[in-house]
Amino acid sequence: MKVTPETVVLINCGCEGIQKLARAVRARKVYTMVIPYSAPAERVGAEKPAGLLLVADGPCARLDEARQKFASLGVPVLEITEPENAVEAAVDFCFKKCGCSGNWDLDKFIDEAVADIRAQVGNGRVVLGLSGGVDSSVVAALIHKAIGDRLTCVFVDHGLLRKNEVAMVKEVFERSFGMNLVCIDAADRFLDKLVGVTDPERKRKIIGKEFIDVFAEAASKINAPFLGQGTIYPDILESIPFDGNPGGVIKSHHNVGGLPENLKFKLVEPVERLFKDEVRAVGRKLGLPPELIDRHPFPGPSLGVRHVGEIRRETLAILREADAIVTEELLKSGWYHRTWQTFAIFVPVKTTGIRNGLRSYDYVIAIRSINSVDAVTAQVVQLPWELLFKMSDRIIHEVPGVNRVVYDITQKPPGTIEWE
Ligand code: XMP
Repeated sequence: MKVTPETVVLINCGCEGIQKLARAVRARKVYTMVIPYSAPAERVGAEKPAGLLLVADGPCARLDEARQKFASLGVPVLEITEPENAVEAAVDFCFKKCGCSGNWDLDKFIDEAVADIRAQVGNGRVVLGLSGGVDSSVVAALIHKAIGDRLTCVFVDHGLLRKNEVAMVKEVFERSFGMNLVCIDAADRFLDKLVGVTDPERKRKIIGKEFIDVFAEAASKINAPFLGQGTIYPDILESIPFDGNPGGVIKSHHNVGGLPENLKFKLVEPVERLFKDEVRAVGRKLGLPPELIDRHPFPGPSLGVRHVGEIRRETLAILREADAIVTEELLKSGWYHRTWQTFAIFVPVKTTGIRNGLRSYDYVIAIRSINSVDAVTAQVVQLPWELLFKMSDRIIHEVPGVNRVVYDITQKPPGTIEWE
């Protein structure tokens, strides 16, 4: 039987930290939703809330409007003025005033999601684009639990992947989980299109368009009416205009990735109610390995945006090897999980050096390590010198074509996290 969690709705009256508060209350087993203050009272009422938290950064007209509008729902209301320090007050309110029992539980979520997928898909088939990232991996594991081999995962190797990425994806999804996995080796197709291209935006567009074409070709052969997607709750929240004005959207939710109109899929989005760390927790419960669940964020265009200038096979191979060394040393030293993203960048500049007593004239690899909470701003991590020296030493001795390693000490802003 489906257990509906008790829901407390956070009304967003203009507060940057609202997602964090919603997540913190969920961590105490009360299910929360975030709805903008401009929504009609019926929209909020449809969630059958046990109570409302009106959240603003301070007193404002939006708070007054919300107070009046939502009073008609007749449920307990608490106004949060300082969201950063309000977690205890909010949790107390949920349990003591709203009568919540704390029934939000990820084990129950998994059972419900599996039942929902079965109900939605019936005897149909689902196709899913697997990126090797957390969200699509967890969705694959959930859908597979629900419908087994009626799920087909498609993994596109665009030639810009990290070292051993294809083998890892095969190992996890095909061999450990026994999923139907179609791996498409499209490396030549992508790399040929990138010949002579140096402009970062053009590179991104070429990679993005080619990806959709390759995925669409593969998906159309599978004859599945459903498309699984790793949409998560922040994707949804950031695509809802905060004050009813579409200009207020932080990012549009187009996870479908611009698939052609004639590929008419019905979407299966089983983690669209979850925050990122809940998605990770579900992944762990479903048995996905830590090296997949706890990975650093990785950009869609992959090594393509970490290779400055024209991408050539030889220089891409240099970057791939250097990146693998950086990751390996980071893991060994325990710093991997202490940074948000740490990676190598290929810099197409040759400098003079000495190798085996002879002059060398080779490329530069940069290392970047940052911490962040939301990727909007980022702080440079002061990695220990010994670790940086180890990385530098290994890169210079093990990767032919590199004779200099530099450390990027640029905050975001002004620097973006990725170099391109
Ligand atoms: P920037 O470079 O804009 O990166 O400071 C912010 C965060 O977004 C990631 N990133 C991307 N992710 N497709 C993605 O899926 C992209 O094209 C892309 N560009 C950057 C980046 O790794 C960082 O976490």
